[in-house]
Amino acid sequence: MRFDVLTLFPEMFTGYLGESVLKRAIERGLVDVRLHNIRDWTDDKHHSVDDRPFGGGPGMVLMAPPVVECVEAVRGSEDSEDKGHLVLLSPQGRRLDQSIVEELAGHRRILLLCGRYEGFDDRIRTILRPDEISIGDYVLNGGEVAAMAVIDSVMRLVPDVLGDEDSSGEDSFSRPGGLLEYAQYTRPRVWRDLEVPPVLLSGNHQEIARWREEDSRRRTRQRRPDLLE
Ligand code: ADE
Repeated sequence: MRFDVLTLFPEMFTGYLGESVLKRAIERGLVDVRLHNIRDWTDDKHHSVDDRPFGGGPGMVLMAPPVVECVEAVRGSEDSEDKGHLVLLSPQGRRLDQSIVEELAGHRRILLLCGRYEGFDDRIRTILRPDEISIGDYVLNGGEVAAMAVIDSVMRLVPDVLGDEDSSGEDSFSRPGGLLEYAQYTRPRVWRDLEVPPVLLSGNHQEIARWREEDSRRRTRQRRPDLLE
C-alpha cells in the first residue's frame, strides 16, 4: 500500500513514521509513505502558497496553482503505474468511519492532500474532484493530523501489517455488528481491591466468548446506543 502525502509541513510526519506499527510495516515493505512539499511547486521568489481571499475576509487561502501542480506531478511520477485515489482532508468532507476506512484500504495507492489556513481556492476541488474526508466535526489547524489518522486506520487493514496477535478483526467497529470492543484485563489478578472478572480466569472458552459478547453489547448500549440502531 502506498501513501503520498502532499503538505506544507512534511516534517510533521517524521516522528509518526518512525515509530511502532507503521515503522515496522515500512521496514517490511508492506507500506510505503512518500512526503511531498507543496511549496516545491511554487515558482515565485518568495515561494508563496497562499494569498488573501477575493471579496475580503480574514485569513489566507491556499492558491490553486501550486496545489494542483503538486498533485499532477506526484500522480504522474514515473515510479508508479497506479495514479492513486486522491483524498482531500477537510472538515467539509464525508466523515471518516470504519466502513470508509475499509473502502480506502481497497486502493493500492492513496494521495492525501493536506490543507492549511482558511481553506483552498475552490477551483482545486473543481479540477481535482477529490474524495473529501473529514475526521470529525471540529476544526484542526490543517489536514496533517487528519492524514495521519487516515494512514493509521487504513494501514491496519493491509494484509500482514498486524500479526495474528493483534489482528484488527476484534477491534471496535470491525466486530460483527460493529459493536464496541469488550473490556480487557491483564496481570495482576487483583489490584487495589479490583478483581478481574472470574470467568476470564476460568479457562472455559465458550463462557469467555459469551461474556465478551455480552460485555460488548453492554458497553455499546451505555456508550454508543446509536450503533445498535
Ligand atoms: N482540516 C481541518 N479540520 C479537519 C477535519 N476535521 N478533518 C479533516 N481535515 C481537517
